[in-house]
Amino acid sequence: MAYHNITVEIADYVALIRLNRPDALNALNSALLAELATALTEADANDKVRCIVITGSEKAFAAGADIKEMSEKSFVDVYGEDMFADSTDTILRIRKPIIAAVSGYALGGGAELAMACDFIICAENAKFGQPEINLGVIPGIGGTQRLTRFVGKSKAMEMTLTGRFMDAEEAERSGLVSRVVPTAKLLSEVMAVARKIAEKSQMAVLAGKEAVNRSYETTLREGLQFERRLFHALFATEDQKEGMAAFLEKREPQFRDR
Ligand code: HXC
Repeated sequence: MAYHNITVEIADYVALIRLNRPDALNALNSALLAELATALTEADANDKVRCIVITGSEKAFAAGADIKEMSEKSFVDVYGEDMFADSTDTILRIRKPIIAAVSGYALGGGAELAMACDFIICAENAKFGQPEINLGVIPGIGGTQRLTRFVGKSKAMEMTLTGRFMDAEEAERSGLVSRVVPTAKLLSEVMAVARKIAEKSQMAVLAGKEAVNRSYETTLREGLQFERRLFHALFATEDQKEGMAAFLEKREPQFRDR
């Protein structure tokens, strides 16, 4: 499919999806979100992809949902079409790992998109925020729920009610991002992490993602049981035999996704 609002490159088993509306700081309009949903679905189904990276430009990961597109809509419009539900729920169905590589602004829907990925690595110039309150609305694609789980109620509430931005240092300190890297090195660092994931047994990677994500959805007891059963199930794979044999033989494992 030809994309107009994103680019997709696949190399070394990593799909790099770049948001590409530079004139609008990658504001998420419906066309971009539809293309992103298609690209994610295709990457998930593609045998040549084992990890997905979503990034933007150096200035902006994404400065939010497209305000121009939304501004004239009525309640009937947005409720009637269930605005953003389809396109943004797609990411929940993707089984392969998705890393958000955030440089510059990740605001509103941009921060929400980053948080919907499996983890975030950001550049030193990153700025996260939920400024919807300044527009007379609130976050609508997960901000109040995911930000609260990442950074706790106090910071999430302050950011949601004041629209204040969080810089990279604060984002790392409060657990929003897994780490901060120099701005010029963001993509090379994230691609190295993605390639590292792509080398692992895909069965174990899918199971690890599923198990961590389950911790958001269930009680501790149920989550522990779910994790244990997946752990047990991986003993049915050849990759478990290979991984453990390679350790004992002091060599690199050769995983075959079986
Ligand atoms: C549409 C946007 C945009 C957005 C920026 N642009 N953000 N267009 N939607 N969210 C456009 C500007 O209109 C401008 O276009 C161009 O991008 C460059 O932006 P500037 O404002 O000139 O850049 P700068 O002065 O560097 O300021 C950067 C900024 C600011 C601080 C990020 O652009 C900003 O505050 N943007 C809005 C952030 C925001 O409120 N996001 C939340 C959106 S609501 P022109 O044509 O003038 O050059 C949301 C809700 C999600 O995300 C959930 C919904 C259900």
